[in-house]
Order: sequence, then structure tokens, then C-alpha cells
Amino acid sequence: MKVLAICGSLRKGSYNRSLLRAAAGAAPAGMEVEIVGIEGIPVFSEDLEKEGMPEAVAALRLKGKAADGILFGCPEYNYGIAGPLKNAVDWLSRAHGEPKTPFVGRPVAMMGASLSMMGTARAQLQLRQTLQACGALTMPTPEVYVMRAQDKFDAEGQLTDKPTHDAVARLMTAFDAWIAKLKG
Ligand code: FNR
Repeated sequence: MKVLAICGSLRKGSYNRSLLRAAAGAAPAGMEVEIVGIEGIPVFSEDLEKEGMPEAVAALRLKGKAADGILFGCPEYNYGIAGPLKNAVDWLSRAHGEPKTPFVGRPVAMMGASLSMMGTARAQLQLRQTLQACGALTMPTPEVYVMRAQDKFDAEGQLTDKPTHDAVARLMTAFDAWIAKLKG
């Protein structure tokens, strides 16, 4: 089973990328997790879209369509989805003449890490709403909100907090079952 893990932060030392690395490490047997970024995706405009699909979008779209499930590492900016991630989702939500986008009918899950006590709860709620518009099948629970990320990862980006690690592992096990269930 293949999972595409999309990091919603462009920051070099991103906690959300570190969180996805921890998720990949905690994936159940048989689940292969590929972590990708959203670098190089231009700001969406319908005029730009008419000129053709940008290379970075095409590559991400292909990976999304080939995956059994998509996992987001969702940063929070100003109580909402970070702009670059929303922009990437908007690009991926477009049909480009094909019957299905990478989201339609595809199992999706998310997790997020932030510096505040909210652990990206507000951004994840918004992302859930956006993914509903995109036709994705978002896993309802469990949820992973990593608050005060600066206390949970070491300088190398390793997740050092055991309860957080356990929560991540639980989400990955549940996502495995969610994908299997929806594949029928
Ligand atoms: C933030 N940050 C932040 N954190 C949070 O918990 N709630 C918020 O509303 C915001 N708002 C916000 C706005 C902007 C413009 C920035 C740059 C940052 C802090 C944020 O959690 C922190 O930068 C994380 O490190 C971002 O995730 P990555 O890049 O580490 O994955």
C-alpha cells in the first residue's frame, strides 16, 4: 500500500516534515510512505492554468493519483491553512480534462505540528473542509495535533516525545485500515 505524504511547509527545518518522517517510521508493515514537498508550485491563477499544467503540479498530481492514500503534514498560519498548502490543494483540485482529480474518492488523512498550544487544530479543520469540497474521503479520527513542537523534536528533527510518537503510530495504523476499507 502506497501513501503519498505531502508536507505543507516550505521551511527547511519544518516540524511538519519531521512529523511526516516520524509517521513514515511508524507506518505499519506493508505501507510505503513517500514524503514530498510543494516546492516550485506557482501561485494558482486560472489564466496560468490555461497555459498548461506547471511541471511541479503535474509531478505531484501523478504521484497523488498513483498513491492509495494521501497524508498531509499541515502547518498553521494565522489560525488557518498555510497559504502554500492551500495553493497546492487548489492546483490538485483541478480536473485538467480528466474525469478525476487526485482527491476524488481517495482516502486522505492529516496531522500537524505548530508552536502554539493549538497544534494546528484550526488549520486542520479548514483543510478537512477544503478536502470535502475536493471529494476526498478524509479519515475522521484519530487526529494528531502536535502543540509546542519546539519541545517535541530535537535539533535533528527527530520526534522525541513518546506520547506524540504513539499518537502518530495510532493514526498510521488507522489510516492503513481506512484505506483498506475504502478499497473494499
Ligand atoms: C505562524 N505560526 C503559527 N502557529 C500556530 O500554532 N498558530 C498560528 O496561527 C500561527 N501563525 C503563524 C503565522 C505565520 C505567518 C507564521 C510564519 C507562523 C507558527 C508556526 O506554527 C511555526 O512557524 C511552525 O514552525 C510552522 O510549521 P513548520 O514550517 O515548522 O512545518
